[in-house]
Parts: sequence; C-alpha cells; structure tokens
Amino acid sequence: MSLRVAVAGAAGRMGQAVCAAVDGAEDLALTGRADPALGVGLEDVLDGADVVVDFTVPDQAVGNARTCLAAGTHVVIGTTGFELDDLRAVCDDHPGANAFVAPNFAIGAVLMMRFAAEASRHMEAAEIVEYHHPRKLDAPSGTAKRTAALMEGDVPIHSVRLPGVVADQDVILGDVAQTLTIRHVTTDRTSFMPGVLLAVRRVAALPESPTVGLDRLLWG
Ligand SMILES: NC(=O)c1ccc[n+]([C@@H]2O[C@H](COP(=O)([O-])OP(=O)(O)OC[C@H]3O[C@@H](n4cnc5c(N)ncnc54)[C@H](O)[C@@H]3O)[C@@H](O)[C@H]2O)c1
Repeated sequence: MSLRVAVAGAAGRMGQAVCAAVDGAEDLALTGRADPALGVGLEDVLDGADVVVDFTVPDQAVGNARTCLAAGTHVVIGTTGFELDDLRAVCDDHPGANAFVAPNFAIGAVLMMRFAAEASRHMEAAEIVEYHHPRKLDAPSGTAKRTAALMEGDVPIHSVRLPGVVADQDVILGDVAQTLTIRHVTTDRTSFMPGVLLAVRRVAALPESPTVGLDRLLWG
C-alpha cells in the first residue's frame, strides 16, 4: 500500500513542487493539500495521511508540527526560520509520532556543509554569503545558520536577496595568501525533491524525534 502524504503550504513555491514530486512517486499517494490560499486547513487533511510535509512560514511551522504529532501523524519540516528548541519541546510532549527537519534538502548543500565543517578545522577564518529570492521571509537562511553552527570559530553570515536566485551559498575560507570557496548553486526547486521524498519514506522509523538534517539520513 502507498504511503499517504499530505502537504502543508501546498499552494506555495515549495509546496507545489512537493505535491508534484509525491504525485510522481509510485510508492507515495498525495492525499491532501492544505493551505489558507486553497481554503483547506491542516486539520482537514490529517485524517488519512501517514506523513505531512510542511513548507509554510516561520511562525506556523511549530504549531503545525504540534497538530500533526498530536494526531499521531509524522511530519517532515522544510520550513526555516523558527526556533528548533520550540520544536524539541513539542516533540517531547508528543512521542507517538516523529518529526524530521532539514534546513536544506538538496544533496549538494548537505555536502557543502560537510566540506565547510572540515575546512574550518584547517583554515584561519571563514565567512558565509547566502543568496535567495527576495520573497524569502527569514534572514540569514536556515542553511547558513546550520553551516555556521557546524563550522569551527565565529563565522559571520551575509544575506543577499535578489530576483533570479533560488537558493545559493558560498562558504569562503581564508588563510595565509589563499582563499578557498565552497559554492552550492540551485537552478530549480526540484533540487530539493529527492531529499524530501527520502525523509518522507524514513520519518516513521527514526529513532530520535526531532531528527535534524538530511545528513542524518544519508550517513547516520
Ligand atoms: N528545507 C529546504 O530545503 C527549503 C528549501 C526551500 C525553501 N525552504 C523554506 O520553505 C518555506 C516555504 O518556502 P516557499 O518559497 O515555498 O514559500 P511560499 O511563501 O511560496 O509558500 C508558503 C505557503 O504556506 C502557506 N501557509 C501559510 N500558513 C500556513 C498554514 N498554517 N498551514 C498551511 N499552509 C500555510 C502560504 O499560504 C503559502 O502558500 C520557507 O520557510 C523557506 O525558507 C526550505
């Protein structure tokens, strides 16, 4: 039987891409599209969903997670800009279902973070420049904050908001007479979909809730 998946934020840029990806996966069934813009609430799609994928707005993500977990429905969160500790408290209160959250579902971004963390152990200083489309609500990006948290030292973050950009990031490291730049570039939101579908398939069996970061699914 197919895993039943509902999407919160289904009318948004990411939500539409997730709906298309779920629809196109043989082992998954798209059972609901929740979004105020569609006149459909999250409560309306919970019944009949095994997993909810949340790509909404920073001030709704934790409340949505609480609603899902309280109903025994697993939740995969791609929304950024909320406090992880708030989600942790919600997960502690609702151990009956799992939450998975990743600031970036693109494999290249996960590798960028890993390489940046390694490089920061060997070079004197580093800064991050992250580039996103101008309608992004949070700055700095969740990816940039997560990258900095994984790196050694104090890593300043610069946020650029420009039309024509989806979600890019440069990690620039400096040392004596040299710099190293690790750059991740996305050209389309489909870059995030293999990671989202992997999380959807794995969230029910996670040993820890919330589990944070796609790296945890790829490398344990
Ligand atoms: N983790 C990742 O890999 C990744 C990648 C891209 C974007 N994002 C994040 O995903 C989020 C969404 O980005 P977007 O560009 O699709 O935004 P968007 O503004 O295009 O879409 C957000 C949608 O959520 C809807 N919404 C608001 N409140 C809701 C609620 N309570 N329940 C259901 N739907 C609700 C809005 O009506 C809107 O349609 C942002 O936080 C962004 O930073 C994460």
